[in-house]
Amino acid sequence: MITAKNLKRIYTMGLVQVHALNGVSIDIGTGEFVGITGASGSGKSTLLHILGLLDDPTEGEIMIGGEDVLGFSDSRKGRFRLRKFGFIFQDYALVPELSALENVILPAIARGIPLPEARASGGEYLDRVELSARRDHLPAELSGGEQQRVAIARALVNNPDVLFADEPCANLDSTNSRKVLDLFRQINEELNQTVIMVSHEDWHREYFDRVIRLRDGKIEHEETL
Ligand SMILES: Nc1ncnc2c1ncn2[C@@H]1O[C@H](COP(=O)(O)OP(=O)(O)O)[C@@H](O)[C@H]1O
Ligand SMILES: [Mg+2]
Repeated sequence: MITAKNLKRIYTMGLVQVHALNGVSIDIGTGEFVGITGASGSGKSTLLHILGLLDDPTEGEIMIGGEDVLGFSDSRKGRFRLRKFGFIFQDYALVPELSALENVILPAIARGIPLPEARASGGEYLDRVELSARRDHLPAELSGGEQQRVAIARALVNNPDVLFADEPCANLDSTNSRKVLDLFRQINEELNQTVIMVSHEDWHREYFDRVIRLRDGKIEHEETL
């Protein structure tokens, strides 16, 4: 469903050029659970952001569901992301002034879903991550693991085809990490959602269908598990 060819991303900082991605080609099928690993600075986040249409490559091509997405205008990319993608980040990225439920329904509201419907569906996803009892809590009133589960409910609220997660367990202990990964696995199996997850923890391999290891902006190793 996602085919990327020869992706390059060069950051120019004054006279210095950083080749964050240096020719990455990747093919990800519908319903795959793909792990992206590699040392810090190897290009994992850059790749995830580019595949998720949050950043443009300097060179290369991306086809998603047969569409040449890099040719889209920015507003069309935005609509495409809202309709098809969910994002989960290392630092949860919740809005501190909004309750758990309000955070969860933001992408649905952005997509134009009427408030009552958005609230109903947000409530279902909060239930799914076992946080119904915390729906009116602010992020600061939740533990790290709970905040990340709110962020997961938010990523799922528009029922995305692809879930992108950038080190979602980085700030969690192993018990909460397992909860998050088990949830990804369930979603992946039940809803056939594609999951692309960046991780630097070796034991996360047991959850992946395939692991892609980056080094210096290139694929160093690829393995089906
Ligand atoms: N906005 C940016 N400007 C300049 N260099 C960047 C920027 N973002 C990332 N880089 C550089 O690109 C390389 C890859 O970064 P990144 O994709 O964040 O790696 P990872 O997620 O694997 O740690 C690193 O050398 C990093 O310093
Ligand atoms: Mg990163």
